[in-house]
Amino acid sequence: MTVTEAVRQRISTRAFLDTPIPRGQLVDLLETAQRAPSGGNLQPWKLIAVTGPAKDEIIHLAHRVLATDPTGHVTSDRPVYPDLNAVDPVYNARRKRVGEMMYARVGIPKEDRAGRTRWFANNYRFFGAPVGLFLIIDRRMGHGQWAHMGMYMQTIALLAEERGWGTCMQECWARLRDELHTLFQLDEHHMVYAGISLGVPDPEAEVNDLYAERAPLGEIVEFKGW
Ligand SMILES: Cc1cc2nc3c(=O)[nH]c(=O)nc-3n(C[C@H](O)[C@H](O)[C@H](O)COP(=O)(O)O)c2cc1C
Repeated sequence: MTVTEAVRQRISTRAFLDTPIPRGQLVDLLETAQRAPSGGNLQPWKLIAVTGPAKDEIIHLAHRVLATDPTGHVTSDRPVYPDLNAVDPVYNARRKRVGEMMYARVGIPKEDRAGRTRWFANNYRFFGAPVGLFLIIDRRMGHGQWAHMGMYMQTIALLAEERGWGTCMQECWARLRDELHTLFQLDEHHMVYAGISLGVPDPEAEVNDLYAERAPLGEIVEFKGW
């Protein structure tokens, strides 16, 4: 598989088989992902990988927390989105579009709010994936280091593709930041940024047929000097 193929075929996988991922193979992936670049080589990321009972404990935790507020509303000081009314409306339009495409795949119309909330809750079961990865960052890091965390995450995702695995990055876990902080016994400086579900994609699941659109290059890139 070429890098181009891996980039083009990577999607957010939202349904997995329960095929286990052997620890040694995950270690190999994570050793390689350590090659992700970061400014000053800070490598400003830490990762907690869970499977089996450790993963189940988190699923149960999420179930308990979401029983009180199933919407998954995040109140963290590091919100998942900026104020989307304050920025160019194109961003909110893209967010809505991919949401509509996804719910169309799983056949849940906009009016069925409860159905959509129920479907969203699959996030908190890792979409059935055997492995959950949690990205941890020191709160004192600046915006640069948060960007470098993204490089690490994408490196993991592409290496997963090469191995025939799928991933879904999940900032929805921000909803459980406090609870996960306690569970993982993090110190006062560290926080859970996001999760990644990882495993073998379910080839039968409709939701995995979603190939999210991208803006045309003209909206993104300006070429100068040609
Ligand atoms: C940092 C980050 C967090 C994300 N959080 C979630 C999430 O919580 N749940 C989810 O279903 N998808 C999540 N996504 C997936 C995005 O919705 C997805 O990447 C985007 O719609 C483009 O689709 P694609 O990944 O299939 O190309 C996240 C993606 C990123 C990069």
